[in-house]
Amino acid sequence: MINSEFNLSMAETKKIAEPCVMVIFGATGDLTKRKLLPALYNLAKEDFLPHKFAIIGVGRQELTTQDFRQQVNDHLREFITDGPDEKLLKWFDERTYYTGGDFDDDRKLFGDLKDLMGQVTAEHQIPENYFYYLATPPDLFAKVTSKIVRHGLGKEENGNWRRFIYEKPFGRDLESAKRLNADLLKLVKERQIYRIDHYLGKETVQNILVFRFGNSIFEPIWNRNFIDHIQITVAEKLGVEQRGGYYDSAGALRDMVPNHILQLVTLTAMEPPVSFEADSVRDEQAKILQAIQPFSPADVLSRAVRGQYGEGVEDGRTVPAYRGEDKVAPQSNTETFAALKLCIDNWRWADIPFYVRTGKRMATKHSTIVIQFKRAPFVLFRDTSIEKLTTNRIVLHIQPDEGITLHFGAKIPGPIVNMGPVDMDFNYLDHFGDQVSTGYERLLFDCMIGDATLFQRADMVEASWRIVDSVLDVWRALPPRDFPDYAAGTWGPPDSDRMLEADGRTWKNLIEEPKTEECEKGEGGKVEKGKSGKVKK
Ligand code: BG6
Repeated sequence: MINSEFNLSMAETKKIAEPCVMVIFGATGDLTKRKLLPALYNLAKEDFLPHKFAIIGVGRQELTTQDFRQQVNDHLREFITDGPDEKLLKWFDERTYYTGGDFDDDRKLFGDLKDLMGQVTAEHQIPENYFYYLATPPDLFAKVTSKIVRHGLGKEENGNWRRFIYEKPFGRDLESAKRLNADLLKLVKERQIYRIDHYLGKETVQNILVFRFGNSIFEPIWNRNFIDHIQITVAEKLGVEQRGGYYDSAGALRDMVPNHILQLVTLTAMEPPVSFEADSVRDEQAKILQAIQPFSPADVLSRAVRGQYGEGVEDGRTVPAYRGEDKVAPQSNTETFAALKLCIDNWRWADIPFYVRTGKRMATKHSTIVIQFKRAPFVLFRDTSIEKLTTNRIVLHIQPDEGITLHFGAKIPGPIVNMGPVDMDFNYLDHFGDQVSTGYERLLFDCMIGDATLFQRADMVEASWRIVDSVLDVWRALPPRDFPDYAAGTWGPPDSDRMLEADGRTWKNLIEEPKTEECEKGEGGKVEKGKSGKVKK
């Protein structure tokens, strides 16, 4: 039985990862316990990990290997969704190690690490294939890499590979991303670098390419002749949780757009690659990023919207304003919502806008790509009221419910020819069963087999920051005057709706905003909803 699309796509590769040691920097952090360890467990469960495999955790905390093994065991029990399988937990226990200390301490930490790696490879008879996962803040990427290289653990030799996975954010603007790329490329080769974006590990994101290029009926209409516009929404219901410190210096635009959102844009817009080799796919993605024109200051005023959430009601309980969140400055002007109208200057997409938006504390958690087609050229059905005249729409649901919907018009039964909107739904769950996947399985596996297709290249990262920088520069020069400007639990600030209304369009919201009584903007960041659920100024 096929019990998950993850299993299906991975099984079809019929490969097992190569024997190797995974070294995780930031081994006691959240990412390791919530995503990386469960992903490794899922891979092992499906027999995708080699028997000759070991994990070395590296962190600031001084733990013994025994302490770390206990932590790994506890985290796996807490975060895996399928199990636990005691035999598998024991398997992990036998091949997990730890070394801790100050990341600046060249001799102690990295000397100890080198000794441990020697010991582990000898004990488990693993060839010296190493992959380093830097789940650390980006300011440590170059420093840690240089120390690894200095200790002779970064150079590929004797047929053994050395790979480096870098978590996002990769830089905080174009200049820092360029500097980071240049620093890393002085130390290792581009082919050794895997810049991770966990959106590319999501099945439905990978399915965009299969949907477009594995079927013959969609691609002929996937262009400016048939499509009116495209909307990409990555809406989150949660606020900033415990990440106020990081988020307040980043903001929604930096946090989500140069990476996740632009990846979705490129996969939706790219030309068919000549093959599914890493560079063929990434070449086409890079062309899209180059074709998105940076914003002029005037464009930013008309085609970019930012917002910040105020207090609001979610699931019947009051949630605090962003400015009241832990580790957030009480007068913070950081945006928690961003919407952009992107224009892709190429033959396929000229004059077809891509509206993208993302935000925290929105009405619901959902990520979708809406392909809105043009109206039929001639209205035959004169008796149908204008609001019932259907335009075709394909909705790619990325999360939480993964699937694809085709929206079209059908005749309403009865003696008069009248039309009404209907949906045809494909749901992943119904067809492939429940997924046991964190989204990181595919990416870790690909790194272990040396396939960089789903990882960002240096030029892609820089092209993305170039777009985002052009907006950030203007926003920095013109601080917002009306924050907070949307209530938690709504679809963002009214300016976001206005941006589309100016083009005669509206956002396709998955659920409507709750209707509340009209009320005034209150004190201390408290914002209340107007009739439509929007903030009343
Ligand atoms: C991360 C962002 O990259 O993606 C977070 O830093 C965001 O702020 C998260 O919450 C969203 O990921 P997902 O997979 O839950 O959509």
